[in-house]
Amino acid sequence: MLFQRVKPLDQILATAEKKSLKRQLGALQLTMMGVGAIIGTGIFVLTAEAGQKAGPGMMVAFVIAAVVCALAALAYAELASMIPVAGSAYTYTYGVLGESMAWVVGWALVLEYAIAAGTVAVGWSGYMNGFLQHTNLFGLVQEGALALPESLRAGPYAGGSFNLLAFLISLVITVLLVVGTSKSAKVNAVLVAIKIVALTAFIVIAVPATKSANFHPFLPNGWGSPLGGIGVLGAAASIFFAYVGFDAVSTAAEETTNPNRNIPIGLIGSLAVCTIFYLLVGYGAVGSVGVQPMMGPGGVAFHPGSPEMALACKGSEALVCSKEPLAHVIRLLGFERIGTWIGAAAVVALPSVILVMIYGQTRIFFTMSRDGLLPAGLARLHPKFHTPHVLTIITGIAVSLFAAMFPVGLLADITNSGTLFAFMMVSIAVMVLRVREPGRHRPFRTPLVWVICPLALLGCLMLFLNLGLITLKLFFGWAIIGIVVYLAYGRRKSHLANGTEAA
Ligand code: ALA
Repeated sequence: MLFQRVKPLDQILATAEKKSLKRQLGALQLTMMGVGAIIGTGIFVLTAEAGQKAGPGMMVAFVIAAVVCALAALAYAELASMIPVAGSAYTYTYGVLGESMAWVVGWALVLEYAIAAGTVAVGWSGYMNGFLQHTNLFGLVQEGALALPESLRAGPYAGGSFNLLAFLISLVITVLLVVGTSKSAKVNAVLVAIKIVALTAFIVIAVPATKSANFHPFLPNGWGSPLGGIGVLGAAASIFFAYVGFDAVSTAAEETTNPNRNIPIGLIGSLAVCTIFYLLVGYGAVGSVGVQPMMGPGGVAFHPGSPEMALACKGSEALVCSKEPLAHVIRLLGFERIGTWIGAAAVVALPSVILVMIYGQTRIFFTMSRDGLLPAGLARLHPKFHTPHVLTIITGIAVSLFAAMFPVGLLADITNSGTLFAFMMVSIAVMVLRVREPGRHRPFRTPLVWVICPLALLGCLMLFLNLGLITLKLFFGWAIIGIVVYLAYGRRKSHLANGTEAA
């Protein structure tokens, strides 16, 4: 039963050919697209989480996460170029490992996209709250007059009661998606530029202020152990979030000129650019103000996002406590105004990441519903706006509630669990397909596939296991619900099984 109902690849490709898109994107545009989707809450906010988990060793965590992503990207690129169809890992799995596995992957991608949107919304709220607290709106109001009450600045597990701004931004983005706003390449280029300028300003100020004393002790929590969710590996598992989104490049495979060359350049190029920035930002943060974990009783670091950590952080100036760590570092270094502007850059640029994530989620649901695995009514298009409004509204409300309630670190870890699972399946699918259909045309071939794919699989598994017990329990709980839904609905209604391929 597990590997039954493999959807023939030619059938998948035929669907895509019906609506073939113009090939116009080159390597540079793809790289920009990747950078636009990648830089977000991860670097702007989760630097504090990574610091709490690993101390200065978070710099190593950035490298480990980047290497795992690069390996996964090389595997991803092969399937993305062969099966350039909406639905990404869900569709690839359907065509290689069959319907049940595809359903589980699609279900896990809800974590990758919807929960990621919530994560970025919480990250955004941290910066927006910081901005409201520090701005005087060019002298129009007194500094601090616009700040929200503390209970509305974070969810109940992070020292507040309702994260109002995270809730509102998710709703606003949902409305934009319902009326059909999509991000244009020009807007993307402007937002990428804003993020790059903000990170560059951070690096230029923080790196010269580094002191060697701040790098000791380098590994206050050690390397970490599976299920512990702490140490360098725990930090790598969390900071993996900072790289999520590079697969956006592969979703443009149908619109790319010379995909064999440009898709891997776009994937690896955007990852490389972000890694360089992340390392410099991490180095600057650690070296300039010092990043040491808040230790609880017995010298054990608090788990970031826990109520105990929130309590210990009350009134603390430590970087690991900040909800807007990059702006905070710059303020601590004495550049109050520039800190506020770096915060403003995050406020302007992060919503587009939320938009991309909710959009991605609705398109995956859409594909699943087109396959009959979700009710067709959900994929109904709005008569005026021609968007899948039912799916978008349901997704948007769920994202808003999650964002209002949960802490950023937990949401990021849950996102990572779904993403890492999907990447593992993609690595397996690449190898299975090489054996099953060695002669099929592959516009991009993963180099050294029998080395890269097993390493990608192992790397993703290692990070997955280091996410910590709570996250893994939530992941498997979610998977079990998914399997029940599939057995109760999708298995019977599947178009592939019933020979009722949707038009
Ligand atoms: N990588 C994206 C971010 O950090 C999802 O916000």
